[in-house]
Order: sequence, then structure tokens, then C-alpha cells
Amino acid sequence: MSERVVTLAVPKGRVLKALVPVLERAGVSASAILGDEGDRRLVRELPELAMRVLLLKPDDVPTWVEYGAADFGVCGRDVLLERGYDLYQPVDLGIGRCQMVVATEASRAALPDRPRVATKYPRIAAAHFAKQGVQAEVIYVQGSVELGPITGLADAIVDLVETGETLRQNDLVVREVVHEISSVLVANRAAHKLLGARAKEIVRLFGAL
Ligand code: PRP
Repeated sequence: MSERVVTLAVPKGRVLKALVPVLERAGVSASAILGDEGDRRLVRELPELAMRVLLLKPDDVPTWVEYGAADFGVCGRDVLLERGYDLYQPVDLGIGRCQMVVATEASRAALPDRPRVATKYPRIAAAHFAKQGVQAEVIYVQGSVELGPITGLADAIVDLVETGETLRQNDLVVREVVHEISSVLVANRAAHKLLGARAKEIVRLFGAL
């Protein structure tokens, strides 16, 4: 009987590049995942491993896994914290490391009692300020969050910082670290059970890296 094909959802872009060495150590060749330049296929078949890789927008990986359209996935802890999926999270992959922070203009002394906070992560931001007893007005934006304080849209931002370059070039400074973020392996709970020893082997491969 042929082995059931296991579906792994991975994020396109930055994290995929960081993930390639991890996958190579798990026996998946980089070229099989990345393809040639101009390759727009969103499914990569790895028949020798009885595996199929789906290339997704980073934020969508947990959705595919939660619904069982993928058995495993690689996604940032930021997305998991923001949206609260019911997923098994067996391995922290230690890649895509960054921090979720509160940042403001360097010249700002203190935040007002009811600060306006621009962010792509409204739940994380609201929970962070609520924990401090601060009722923030959270303003959802999709990107270029750093423009918030500079343009008067917001008093502060909650966003990811990796090198700190974007903050620096926009005259913002870190006020608080909200969460340490990295990429994690996630699994659909039912698929993980059904796959039994195969699932354990996949988790072991990623975990041992
Ligand atoms: C992320 C994040 C910051 C930037 C931080 O944005 O929202 O803007 O990276 O990186 P740095 O500390 O190394 O400068 P991204 O580039 O993913 O684009 P986005 O705004 O479209 O999410």
C-alpha cells in the first residue's frame, strides 16, 4: 500500500528562505521547494518523501492547517497569538526570530491616558494595554505601521521588529517588548493523531533541527 501523502503548508517569502536549510536537513531539497525563477506553482510535490508542500501567504498557513487542508504548517507565533487557532504546536523552529514591541517617536515622553495605537495586531495590542489597565484605542492598519506616530494617526504602534532598521529610519524607538516571536511547526490535531508514527517522525525531524 502506498504511503499517505502528508501536506505541509509553508509561508512564501522571508520565512520560506529561512526555512529552506531546515527543510534540507529534514530531507527536502531546496530546489524542489523554491523551483526555478518564474515558477508560479503553489503546490510542490515531493513524491520521494510522500509529501506535498503548499506555498501560502504567511497569515493563511494556520487556516489551511486548522481546516485540515494541510496536515502540518510553519507559521509565526504572531499570527497564532493574534488569531487564537486550535492547533497542536509541537516545535519552535527558532527561525524568523523577531520581537513584537510597542514603539513611539523618540521625542515622546509619555503616552496619554487613552493612547491611540496603530497596529496590524489589534488583539495582541488591546490585550497588552488592558493588562496594564490602559484602555487603548486600537487602530487597525495593514502595513507601513511606522507612519502612525509620524503622521499623527497614533501615539504609538505595536509591530514586529527584526533588525530595528525600519524603526530607526522612521525616528521611532522601542518602549516595551510585548512578545518574543519565532516560527513554529503546527499540526492539525486530528491529522496528527491519524498519522500516528509518521506524524511523530515529522515532528522529530523538525524538532531535532
Ligand atoms: C515588518 C514589520 C516592520 C519591519 C521590521 O514589515 O511590520 O515594518 O518588518 O523589520 P526591521 O526591524 O528589520 O526593519 P514587513 O517588511 O514584513 O512588511 P509589512 O509592513 O508589509 O508587513
